[in-house]
Amino acid sequence: MSEKDLSVVSDTILNIKSLNRTYIDDSGNTVEALKDFNLSVRRGEFVSVIGSSGCGKTTLLRLIAGLDKPESGELILDGEKITEPASQCGYVFQQGSLFPWLTVEKNIAAGLKARKTYKENKGEVARYIDLIGLKGFEKSFPHQISGGMAQRVAIARALINNPSVLLLDEPMGALDSFTRADIQDKLLELWKKNKITMLLVTHDVDEAIYLSDRIVIMTPRPGRIEKIIEVDS
Ligand SMILES: Nc1ncnc2c1ncn2[C@@H]1O[C@H](COP(=O)(O)OP(=O)(O)O)[C@@H](O)[C@H]1O
Ligand SMILES: [Mg+2]
Repeated sequence: MSEKDLSVVSDTILNIKSLNRTYIDDSGNTVEALKDFNLSVRRGEFVSVIGSSGCGKTTLLRLIAGLDKPESGELILDGEKITEPASQCGYVFQQGSLFPWLTVEKNIAAGLKARKTYKENKGEVARYIDLIGLKGFEKSFPHQISGGMAQRVAIARALINNPSVLLLDEPMGALDSFTRADIQDKLLELWKKNKITMLLVTHDVDEAIYLSDRIVIMTPRPGRIEKIIEVDS
């Protein structure tokens, strides 16, 4: 295969086609969370997704992460259909998701332990603690650190498996603007260093413009793409 063919093959890392996801709510009503959603993401791209509350953003990330299944449509990650959680995909959840009973160090290692790769990668934990600027806090528990530090730990826990795609669900939503700026810069630094594809859900337009190559704006429910904006760098 020529170099050109290879680049065509590997340029798209994520391809989402005609995705539909419907829920039945507590009253038995049908809720169309995503309707005919289509998106293609390039390898190494930083894409933000913006939309009003309840428009299906978390639903979208859960489907990409293989934590949920669509009624119809297809999700292709790195050429393969997504049917279950894949190790190429890291996930930083909307709400604080650290294990409260584990230290910073053990929370980050939990990402590895879950995949039974802890022994070979022990040194990586220290490297990631350094990378997110939490040296000295290895033995702290989540309640002993700030919200911003906790989010950085969550990001490190996702990154330590070396994902090719990192899904971030409003990770800065609950943080003050200084902490937010600090984590934004950290994310950019990690993105450049690790050449990861980033998919960030945010409700902060300035944040999306600052971080992204492209911004996907979703319509209110049922979630579809209203428009896609290319951000000049
Ligand atoms: N497990 C579920 N059961 C029923 N309805 C759900 C469930 N998860 C999400 N929904 C509904 O689907 C819609 C989209 O939800 P979500 O993806 O969480 O939106 P967003 O993250 O954009 O705020 C909302 O109306 C929500 O109430
Ligand atoms: Mg959400």
